[in-house]
Amino acid sequence: NLLITNLHQIVQIVDDGDTAFLAGKDMSSIKVLESKSNDLAILSTDGLIKFIGPKSNLPTDVIELPTLATIDACGGSVIPGLVDGHSHPVFAGDRVHEFAMKLAGATYMEVQAAGGGIHFTTTKTREATKAALVADFKKIATEMIKNGTTTLEAKSGYGLEWETELKMLEAIQEVADLHTIEVSATFCGAHAVPRGSTEAKQAEVIVSHMIPELVKLKSAGKLNSLENIDVFCEKNVFELESSKKILKAGKDAGLAVNFHADELSALGGAELGAEIGARAMSHLEEISEKGIAAMAKAGTVATLLPSTAFMLRLTPPPARAMIDAGVIIALGSDFNPNAYCLSMPTIMHLACVNFRMSMPEALVAATLNSAHSLGRGNTHGAITVGRVADLIVLTAANWEHIIYRLAAQCSVINTVVKAGNVV
Ligand code: NIG
Ligand code: FE
Repeated sequence: NLLITNLHQIVQIVDDGDTAFLAGKDMSSIKVLESKSNDLAILSTDGLIKFIGPKSNLPTDVIELPTLATIDACGGSVIPGLVDGHSHPVFAGDRVHEFAMKLAGATYMEVQAAGGGIHFTTTKTREATKAALVADFKKIATEMIKNGTTTLEAKSGYGLEWETELKMLEAIQEVADLHTIEVSATFCGAHAVPRGSTEAKQAEVIVSHMIPELVKLKSAGKLNSLENIDVFCEKNVFELESSKKILKAGKDAGLAVNFHADELSALGGAELGAEIGARAMSHLEEISEKGIAAMAKAGTVATLLPSTAFMLRLTPPPARAMIDAGVIIALGSDFNPNAYCLSMPTIMHLACVNFRMSMPEALVAATLNSAHSLGRGNTHGAITVGRVADLIVLTAANWEHIIYRLAAQCSVINTVVKAGNVV
């Protein structure tokens, strides 16, 4: 049980458990409690939020709870724990040399065609032991939590064959079991076409062998964190037909569809995702007007990835047009050996500056809407009674400092709380 007192602001985002996301103009009108005398408090019991409001309204028997820990926020503020809606945090090998190539003018696909990119990481990840992958991912997860991420989507996709894809998903499961961070795992065996195979052959292996085997393991309680199916739907990678085949097979097997779409070319991934009932799609730098309309209608979340667009110098996705059309916008770090940034506060800053989102919009996208993209919109991502007590206590009286202080946000984080426990 945890009591946080002397708060200036509580950024609730919404004030009930029924609102699972905010879209359109509603993204700008988040619910914030504020007290000039800094007398706001939050109580969590058994990992859930129990009370929010002026300390004087706290039921008195609560103060005598035997196991009550307290945090004096000293006039600071509190926001929901951040939800990273897209990451590739399990990999081996170092690709810093590719950053130099890209700075010298090579495009993402040129590096990949030269044998680098996903292929390079796949070779290294196939060679790595599961223990090494777990050890590295644990370190990354600890850094993420320090930066305020309490829930994380984490993908496989650097094996491309059964053995290594399974090894990655098992490594993710080990970290999900051992670490404080909460993980929603994603099978991304269609991250690239493995050398010596073809798009159609890889799609066939995924559909007829890998998905059924993974789902069996999940039903046996061995891969509990596995929740989503992903494809890198892109020109010359997995195009619409094979993407559809894989994603539908995943959906039929009970996985949520959450995939890479319309990043480097306008292939029509957004329209495909809307058609097959995807829960979320990521990137969308090249989304068409039809794609925007289709996503808004279908209620599919657009998980935007500002660090990737920034470092690859891509034209930003049309975030303003998407918000105006009512598309649900979430944010992810896309942490991977291409875009090496795990800090969600930095991601929010980039979303504001480069995608022209307001600070409330960026915070909604990185909390409630990201939670919704992972099927957690009613339980995570906001500070309301009954939700999971995932919180970031900030030293600043005004919550916007978590976005404003570019690359120095840790200086404003007082304490991170996951499910009522101080991290
Ligand atoms: O989301 N675009 C495809 N996948 C990743 C990059 C993975 C890699 O380059 O290793 C992405 O940016
Ligand atoms: Fe990605």
